[in-house]
Amino acid sequence: MLRTHTCGELRQSHVGETVTLCGWVDRTRDHGQGMFLDVRDRYGLTQVVVSPDSSPADIALSKQLRGEFVIQVRGTVHQRPDGQHNPKLATGDIEVHVTELTLLNRASTPPFLPSQKELPGEDLRLKYRYLDLRRQRMQQTLVLRSALIKAMRDYFETHQFIDVETPILGRSTPEGARDYLVPSRVHQGTFYALPQSPQLYKQLMMVAGYDRYVQVARCFRDEDLRADRQPEFTQLDVEMSFVDTEDMLTMIDGLMVKLMKEFKGVELTTPLPRMTYDEAMRRFGHDAPDLRYGMELVDLTDLAKETEFRVFRGTADSGGFVRGLCAVGAAERYSRKGIDELTEFVKNDHGTKGLAWFKVDADGSLNSPIAKNFQPTELARITERFEAKPGDLLLIVADEWNTSCRALNGLRRRLAAELKLYDPDQMHLSWIVEFPMFDWDAEDQRWVAMHHPFTAPRDQDLALLAENPSACRAKAYDLVINGCEAGGGTIRIHDSATQQQVFGLLGLDQEEANRRFGFLLDALRFGAPPHGGIALGIDRLVMLFAGLDNIRDCIAFPKTQRAMDLMTEAPNTVDARQLADLAIATLKPRG
Ligand code: AMO
Ligand code: AMP
Repeated sequence: MLRTHTCGELRQSHVGETVTLCGWVDRTRDHGQGMFLDVRDRYGLTQVVVSPDSSPADIALSKQLRGEFVIQVRGTVHQRPDGQHNPKLATGDIEVHVTELTLLNRASTPPFLPSQKELPGEDLRLKYRYLDLRRQRMQQTLVLRSALIKAMRDYFETHQFIDVETPILGRSTPEGARDYLVPSRVHQGTFYALPQSPQLYKQLMMVAGYDRYVQVARCFRDEDLRADRQPEFTQLDVEMSFVDTEDMLTMIDGLMVKLMKEFKGVELTTPLPRMTYDEAMRRFGHDAPDLRYGMELVDLTDLAKETEFRVFRGTADSGGFVRGLCAVGAAERYSRKGIDELTEFVKNDHGTKGLAWFKVDADGSLNSPIAKNFQPTELARITERFEAKPGDLLLIVADEWNTSCRALNGLRRRLAAELKLYDPDQMHLSWIVEFPMFDWDAEDQRWVAMHHPFTAPRDQDLALLAENPSACRAKAYDLVINGCEAGGGTIRIHDSATQQQVFGLLGLDQEEANRRFGFLLDALRFGAPPHGGIALGIDRLVMLFAGLDNIRDCIAFPKTQRAMDLMTEAPNTVDARQLADLAIATLKPRG
């Protein structure tokens, strides 16, 4: 080993010892009577002193050192002089007096310094990711990521799960995104699809009798990226046989108890709170509501039907909804201009036609340009419905259900952040259950699976598959943390006939279903046990546990919002030879 200790290790108890450290020069200070060097590695930072008594060669070298040079330092550990102790640094009680300084490697002037205070632009960070990864915050996050994955593996191992790897080159799995395709050279003109998840393989492992499966699985989805979405990401993927919803939730509750205890020092009480999808949409307008704060949606549709105000009444009479929320004490915080911004936000980002608002004056009366459209009794009923108090701001959206949900969820999240309604360190975990089986795709005029096509309906809803698919609820569950979908899963269909029926509803006729999923339909005929599972988004869990708001900061080498790796410049063109081997010709890129 080139070193005896790390740069984060030395304490008062080491005083007097001769040590050798290796690391990067974080900072140098020339104090006249000596050079002070901060030497850094991923464990910490140690102050090193090159005194006038050091060898002339060491003194000369120390003056040449620049940020990010790699050095080896041999020396003795000294207590720092009185008044020079640094309580903010783990090694702040000691310093190392150099007896031998060695330059291991030079560094060109880096585009940014890992220890600089202001964060460089993200493109620069991604282009020089290895420098960015030297930052303490990135190191802490990757260490946390590694520890979280280990804790999860330990949990599942104690519960008799076995880790099985599934193929990366395979057949497309329908999780709702576009596939990444890999052309086959051997079978020209055909393609593998990278897995959007190991969904079908893990179900087939259940058919094969491996009743408890777990995998840290890489998934690939070509979809629009956001702060919590990457084109390739990692799931903690789980599947179990002979279980129903309750068993799955209990198993994952146990995992979350362990993780919250070990990583947050929080004792969760189980079972974790549960809410149905319908209730979540009604109360919060979203299937992954942030439950760290209230500000629930309030429905005024019945009142709207009785008013003369055209916007409300028209919406209510035509089957729409008039709903709103009460931002407690926020009337002063939002000026006319502030409310105009909120109005633009719901219009532009969420497609509503407008935003109605009232401020509650000191005498309790409602103040708004639209107040004149309402009778005093109507205003009183609105106040009462919102339980509004002087100083509150009421925001109301009149629209069809989906738009109203989207806009009010957006408003609720934005207001909560602006009004600081939650403690950023707090974590709130809950389950959303009983999702609809299907979503109606109005554009293509067809049903699509809300989770995926292998999801089982609730037992009592089986008949609804034929009678009224929109009312049919699934044995589906999502784990929601702080308004983020941290995981999702379902109990699966385990008989071929029901699976065929669901494929049929989704527009796959028997021939098409056999062509795409014949292997699954076959397997379900050869003794498939009842089974179900879940996948937790590891990148998102790390983000939540680390208190970050972007999953790119939880991944060593992430992609940009445009699915680019700025460091290696992938994706990129390939040689004509490679294309010829694959019998592929490229068209001129669009746009
Ligand atoms: P689902 O598609 O809900 O379910 O994915 C499970 C979890 O994976 C995370 N996730 C993502 N994280 C980062 N970037 C993405 N693009 C991304 N997409 C999803 C989320 C999500 O909750 N096979 C099923 C699971 C099952 O039924 O067992 C599946 O993949 O945290
Ligand atoms: P208008 O008559 O369209 O100018 O609208 C009158 C008021 O109602 C304005 O304050 C609008 O912002 C508001 N408004 C318009 N459409 C909606 C809507 N869909 N939901 C809530 N308020 C609306």
